[in-house]
Amino acid sequence: MTSPPGPIPPDVVSLADYERYFMRHRDVAIRTYISAGAGDGLTMADNRRAFDRLRLMPRMLACMEGANTKVSFLGHDYTHPVFIAPCAYHRLVNDDGELATATAAMLTQTCMTVSTLSSVRLEDIARASASRGCGSAPLWCQLYLQERREETLSLVRRAEEAGYKAFVLTVDAVVSGDRHAQRRVRFVLPPNVSAVNLAGFQPPAEMTIRPGGSLLAMLEGRAPTFDDLAWLCRQTALPVLVKGVLNPADVAACLDAGVAGIIVSNHGGRVLDTLPATIDILPAIVTAVAGRVPVLMDGGIRRGTDIVKAIALGASAVLVGQPILQALAVAGASGVVHAITLLRSELETAMALLGARDLQALDSAFVQPRET
Ligand code: FNR
Ligand code: LAC
Repeated sequence: MTSPPGPIPPDVVSLADYERYFMRHRDVAIRTYISAGAGDGLTMADNRRAFDRLRLMPRMLACMEGANTKVSFLGHDYTHPVFIAPCAYHRLVNDDGELATATAAMLTQTCMTVSTLSSVRLEDIARASASRGCGSAPLWCQLYLQERREETLSLVRRAEEAGYKAFVLTVDAVVSGDRHAQRRVRFVLPPNVSAVNLAGFQPPAEMTIRPGGSLLAMLEGRAPTFDDLAWLCRQTALPVLVKGVLNPADVAACLDAGVAGIIVSNHGGRVLDTLPATIDILPAIVTAVAGRVPVLMDGGIRRGTDIVKAIALGASAVLVGQPILQALAVAGASGVVHAITLLRSELETAMALLGARDLQALDSAFVQPRET
């Protein structure tokens, strides 16, 4: 059993405070699964440091009539650009798991992407959020391509049926990466948490290298390609966004495959260490996309000023991962509402002080690189 969430601690005033409380979580394995990066954690740290290296350049006495944080893309008007990133197994930190997170998302009009590896069935999550009747922030469904196409297709049909509004295909985790910190603490899922959406599916291939074996050989005939991406795009009338693109050289093939959006991501530094920080890569992807589809980003968003920087450098919206689970662990759905509210209010403060009346007014002239 997870500990019941507590009240929001009075000294939590930023996302870093949620992290501080979360790091007191009694279960070291769960703490590590959620917070540790791959390898030496360099990419995870760099996601943050790269934001910190950027400075903001304000405009004074700007007209702020009608100021707002709205953004529209893929046929939907969003009240604000802070989205919840797909994260596996919310029940690791809260007994209600994704039901609690989805409730918080609805209450804050936040677009939430549900992971393939959610610990509550995707239909139940959709029902919980629809029953709260708000309906102004859609749920998206993240997909990992399954061993068999018919299994992927069954997830697609179930999500369509349940009312999800877009798919996010994650392409940056063909294998799980070297998660040394998780291995040191021997992280395994507790018995009450599992990938319930995949019940009855062919179990994933064992990717453990045995003496004399090769991981690459195990990928033979299995590693997804752009043909699989194009196949997926053809299977559904809903938009398909691709998550995990870092190299501008991959953009043309994604667009040719039919994607409706690109999410610049290094999986929060959890998969391959020493990948570049996402905010450093964003401008090159935005240039390559040249306005044909929206570009979103995630990785290291912890402050309203980070959001401003990402939007100014061309993102339509940002996704937040770790802090959502940390807030869920500390204070349940109220914690997630609070964490998103903190980010939104920091975003508004930053826009007010920068003289940016809306997100469309933010451009790269508001951002200055800093030496070091
Ligand atoms: C993730 N992420 C992730 N991504 C995905 O596409 N499917 C998934 O199931 C998961 N699972 C997952 C679990 C946990 C515990 C974390 C922290 C992250 C990655 C996630 O969507 C996102 O890319 C990063 O979390 C963004 O970085 P920050 O906000 O955590 O710094
Ligand atoms: C993770 C996988 C589930 O990052 O995407 O843990």
